[in-house]
Formats: sequence, structure tokens, C-alpha cells
Amino acid sequence: MREALVRPGLISLAAGFTDNPSLPVAETRDIMDAMLRGKAGQPPLQYGTTAGDEELRVLTARRLAQLDGQSAKAKAYQPGRMMITHGSQQLLYILTEILCDPGDIVLVEDPSYFVYLGIMQSHGIRGRAIRLESDGINLDHLEHTLEALKKSGELPRLKALYLVSYHSNPTGITTAVAKKAAALKLLRRYEPAAGHRLYLIEDAAYRELRFAGDDIPSALITDRAANRVIYTSTYSKPYATGVRVGYGILPGPLLAAALRVKGNHDFGTTNILQQLIIRAITTGAYEKHLAKLRQRYAKKAAAMVRACRDDLPTGVNWTEPTGGLYVWAKMPARVKTDFKSRLFAAALRQKMIYVPGNLCYCGDPTRRRPNREMRLSFGSASSSKIREGIARLGRALKKVL
Ligand SMILES: Cc1ncc(COP(=O)(O)O)c(C=O)c1O
Repeated sequence: MREALVRPGLISLAAGFTDNPSLPVAETRDIMDAMLRGKAGQPPLQYGTTAGDEELRVLTARRLAQLDGQSAKAKAYQPGRMMITHGSQQLLYILTEILCDPGDIVLVEDPSYFVYLGIMQSHGIRGRAIRLESDGINLDHLEHTLEALKKSGELPRLKALYLVSYHSNPTGITTAVAKKAAALKLLRRYEPAAGHRLYLIEDAAYRELRFAGDDIPSALITDRAANRVIYTSTYSKPYATGVRVGYGILPGPLLAAALRVKGNHDFGTTNILQQLIIRAITTGAYEKHLAKLRQRYAKKAAAMVRACRDDLPTGVNWTEPTGGLYVWAKMPARVKTDFKSRLFAAALRQKMIYVPGNLCYCGDPTRRRPNREMRLSFGSASSSKIREGIARLGRALKKVL
């Protein structure tokens, strides 16, 4: 962001911002105008509750059950298990605080969401990286890692497996539901040796930004007793990132602990923003906006993939996203991508910027941190800027090669 400010003309394919021209300005103005009329305008301007607005929790739980193809009456989708947070980022932070002590271990995808890795680092939590395949984590590697932790006596320090399971940040990969079920089963198998529950944290931040293929049910459907899966998601990405209303479904004891911590943080997410989301959903504005957004991101993702095909030299590989905001690209052997690399400097000289892939890898003593990849976002740049940005990257790469 700093580079973009100090270098005019820089094309940033780095920031995970959403698309400015499609932000729902008129819809939000209409909703706010209707909401703030007469006495009905008073409650949104008042404090709410720590868990979040009851109506929003009911609506969100119902939408989630519908997405998962389950009855809204099923145990997993009870609004009483849900909390509304200031973005899902706040919930990820709170979860880490209530689940982990310094020195504990969390399993993450390799690579994973770098801001979550930052939360882990600031809590002194050790990461163990689970290899990724095109449909999610490699289950053999998960089992091998659990077994290795058991043998080294470290399993009691393990607390959770964190998956960004839909159109992941940074890779764009979506985890197959069978993999989520198998991962949960494996975690349960190792619980006796761990001496406590091992939770599966499913971060579904990009679930609704799907523009190809079918939706996949969440891990909640694989958790019959509704006591091992923590589901986090957000209205930021599908509605407006400036609104920052997130939510989560948590097993009972964890919910109580999370609410105590949230009470200390803020005793409730901004009420007027929750009311805005309620009205966006109940008036149908939310679904309409989402449909437009999906079309727009589908076009921008296609523009990015086409530009990669046209302008990047042979030896570069990339993922083709079916949703979300990112393409994950891997450079030819020996081409490094970190901030200090020749490629990063060459890209800056060409006036384009990307997120170095090494930032998305946790420090794991069992492997070297990879340094050949980059995250390219099609979220905020226009299609023409995306094409130009990739062409510049292509020129930078050719110089380095
Ligand atoms: C994977 C992932 N999870 C969570 C978040 C947090 O989003 P928010 O706090 O806006 O809900 C982000 C934001 O970029 C993300 O990429």
C-alpha cells in the first residue's frame, strides 16, 4: 500500500481489496435512508449485544443451513451457536486467544492466509504446515504430521487445524467436503493422545464469491455432534469490505469463552452496520449485489488468467480460480519472489507489485520456506490494469531470466 502511494502509476495486484466500482453505494444509501426515519432510526444508533443482533444471527444461520443443504433446525445451525464479530478477522484473533497458549501448535495449509499467520506469531504459536493439493490438504501428510507430533510428545500442544476452505487466500484452492470429513476423523483419532479436543477451524471468507462450479457444503455437515468444527465467515467480501461484519458458529463452551473475550474487546459489533446487513438481506439487495459481483469477478479472473497465458514466460504455472480474489503463480526454478529478490525489484521498476509467496508460509522446522511463488489479486484493479500489470510482470520476469 505504501509503495502504491509513493509510486504514481504503480499497478498493484497485491492488496486483497475488493472492486471499487461495484461497491453497493446506492443500495447502502437507500437502506440507511429508510433505516434512519423517525423513531425506527433510534435502535440502530444504540448499543447492541455482545453476541450480535438476534435477527442477524437467525438470518445468517438460516442462509448457512440453506447453503449446506441442511434443515435450519439441525443442531449445527442454531442461531444460539452464532456470534457476530467485527469482521471475521476479529473472530480469528479471539479464537486464537481462547484456544492457545504460547508454544502451542496449530496446523495450517502450506501456504495459508498470512494475516492469520501473523496472529499465530503474535501469540507465540508454532505452525505445522500441511501440504496442499488441488482439492485441499494432503491427508497422508496430515496423518504423518499428527503421528510425528505424537511420537515427539508434542501432541498435547496441538490445538487446531485451520483451513481456508473456499477459494483460498492465497491459492484459490477449495477443499473437497470428503477431505474435510477425513481431516476431522483423523483429528478425532489423535484426541486421546492429545488429551483434549482438536478443533477444525473452517475459514469460509470467500465462500460466497464463487463464480464457477458448485458450492461445497461446509465442514459443519461432517460434525454430527456439533462440537468440533468452528466455522468463520464474513459479509465483508460479498457485500462491502468497509462494513466489516463477520460471523462464526462455535461449539458451546468455546462460544461462551469467545463472548467473554469479545465483551472485553468491544461488547458488541457496531449495531448500525449489523442493521444495514439485515436490511440488505431482507430487501433482497444483498443477493442482487452478490450476483453482480460474481459476474464481475468472473470477468476479471478470466482477464488475469488470459494475461498470464499471453504474457508470462514458459516455466511459470498458476492456478485458475473458481471464486475468491486470487491467482497463485509459481515461478521457474531458481527465480525467487521475496521482497529482496531481483524479480521483486524488477517488477517495481516496471511499476507493478505482487504479494511475495514466502509471506504465506509459516515457519515450520520440517521444511524450507518456499520462495518461488506470488499472490496476484484481481480484486481491485480493472480488467485493463490487470492485463497491463501482468504484461509488466512478464517483462520483469524476462529481464530476470
Ligand atoms: C482468508 C481470510 N479470512 C478472513 C479475512 C478477514 O476478513 P474480514 O475481517 O473482513 O471478515 C480475510 C480478509 O482478507 C481473509 O482473506
